[in-house]
Amino acid sequence: MNSLQSSTTLHNGVKMPWFGLGVYKVPEGEVALESVKMAIKAGYKSIDTAALYENEESVGQAIKESGVPREELFITTKVWNEDLRNNSVEEAFETSLRKLGLDYVDLYLIHWPVKDKYKDAWKVLEKLYKEKRVRSIGVSNFNIHHIEDLMSVAEIKPMVNQVELHPLHSQPELRDYCKKQQIQIEAWAPLGQGRLLDHPVLQEIASGHHKSIAQVILRWDIQNEIVTIPKSIRESRIKENANIFDFTLSSSDMEKINALNENQRFGADPDNFNF
Ligand SMILES: NC(=O)c1ccc[n+]([C@@H]2O[C@H](COP(=O)([O-])OP(=O)(O)OC[C@H]3O[C@@H](n4cnc5c(N)ncnc54)[C@H](OP(=O)(O)O)[C@@H]3O)[C@@H](O)[C@H]2O)c1
Repeated sequence: MNSLQSSTTLHNGVKMPWFGLGVYKVPEGEVALESVKMAIKAGYKSIDTAALYENEESVGQAIKESGVPREELFITTKVWNEDLRNNSVEEAFETSLRKLGLDYVDLYLIHWPVKDKYKDAWKVLEKLYKEKRVRSIGVSNFNIHHIEDLMSVAEIKPMVNQVELHPLHSQPELRDYCKKQQIQIEAWAPLGQGRLLDHPVLQEIASGHHKSIAQVILRWDIQNEIVTIPKSIRESRIKENANIFDFTLSSSDMEKINALNENQRFGADPDNFNF
C-alpha cells in the first residue's frame, strides 16, 4: 500500500486498486470527461461510476482519450434498482457496457439491496461473471443480513461490498464480517460528501502531519484496508486526495478517528430506502 497503484487482491485473485475516483453527481460531458482524464493523468487507476450517474459515456471517452491501456485500469459500474424491479439486469449491463465503450468491466455491483429482487439479480451477475463479461462481481449497500440471505442462493460469493463509510459511520461490525468472509469493503462518501472537512479532532491530527483533513481520512481508510473512492471535479483536490502515500497515521491517531463513530449516515438506510 505504498502508491496510488497499490492494490488489494479480491478472493477470486483479481487485483483492485485501494484508491480510485468516484463520479457520483459529476455531470456527463466536459466535466466528467475532464475530471476522469485529470485523475488518470495524476496516476489514478480506478474509476467508480454507475448507470444511475448517467455519465458512463464520458467516463468511457475519458478512458479512451487517456492513452492508458485499458487493462491497466479498473472500471466499476453498477446496476440500478429499476432494472432489478423490471428483471432487466442483463439488458442494463449491455447498456452500461455500450455507453462505456468497453467489452468488459472490472467490477459490476448491485447498487442497492432491492427487497425480493437482489437474489435474482445476483444470478444474472454470476452468469456475466462465468461468461467473463465482468472480472469480478459484488454488492453495494448490503448489511450483514442481506449478504447472508444472498449467500443462501449464491454460487459465487460477492468479491466487494461498497457501503457508506467514513469516520462518523465507520461500520465496525460490517467490516469485521466482510473481512471474515473475504469480501473486500469499499467506502462510498469517504469524506462524508464534504461534511467532515472541518471536524476539530481530524483537524488536529491533520495539522500534526501537515496534511489536509481529506488526506487524513483517506489515509485512515487505506490503513484500515478499506478501498476508497473520493469524488472531486477539481484538479487540485484530485491530486491532493491521492497524495496520501508519504505519511503514516500512528495507532493513537487511528484510535482517535475510530472513536468518532456515531453510526451517522448522510445517505439512505439500506433497510429503509424508497427509491
Ligand atoms: N454505492 C452507492 O450507493 C454510492 C453512493 C454515493 C457515492 N458512491 C460512490 O462513492 C464516491 C464518493 O462518494 P461521494 O461522491 O458521495 O462523496 P465524497 O467523496 O465523500 O465527497 C465528495 C465531496 O467532497 C468534495 N471534496 C473532494 N475532495 C475534497 C478536498 N480535498 N477538499 C475539500 N472538498 C473535497 C467534493 O467537491 P468537488 O467535486 O467540488 O471537489 C464533493 O463535494 C461517489 O462519487 C460514487 O462513485 C456510491
